[in-house]
Amino acid sequence: MIYVINGPNLNILGVREPNIYGDITLKDIEENLTAAARELGQIIYFFQSNHEGEIIDAIHKARENADAIIINPGAFTHYSYAIRDALMSVTMPTIEVHLSNIHAREEFRNNSVISPVCKGVICGLGASGYVLALMSLNSIIKNG
Ligand code: DQA
Repeated sequence: MIYVINGPNLNILGVREPNIYGDITLKDIEENLTAAARELGQIIYFFQSNHEGEIIDAIHKARENADAIIINPGAFTHYSYAIRDALMSVTMPTIEVHLSNIHAREEFRNNSVISPVCKGVICGLGASGYVLALMSLNSIIKNG
């Protein structure tokens, strides 16, 4: 099972700054991922929260039954040492995904405190970043 964890404000994708994030909704992203996962024989568990503690709880839960994690921590990316610590406590591969290219935006977005504890990072490719992360994790789970 692959956990897909989305952080704050990602529940309002589609209406939120469409010039940056496009008009795709989180539901669209989840539907795309479900279809891609079905073809790969993977099961996806989706979780979104606007609250740091709930995201940490979801990561702890992943320790019990997940093979991998895809996480877009939203703005927590840039300052949540607590989410970073939670990810450090899990041994499964994790890929950090951002819809936008955080390196091409405001300076405060250029740094991620999450990236150093992830297997890989995908940013700037929009919703397809999640599917690419899924394909990569599927291969890691099956082939190491
Ligand atoms: C984001 C980038 C973050 O800087 C921002 O706070 C978000 C979305 C992205 O997917 O591009 O909420 O994680």
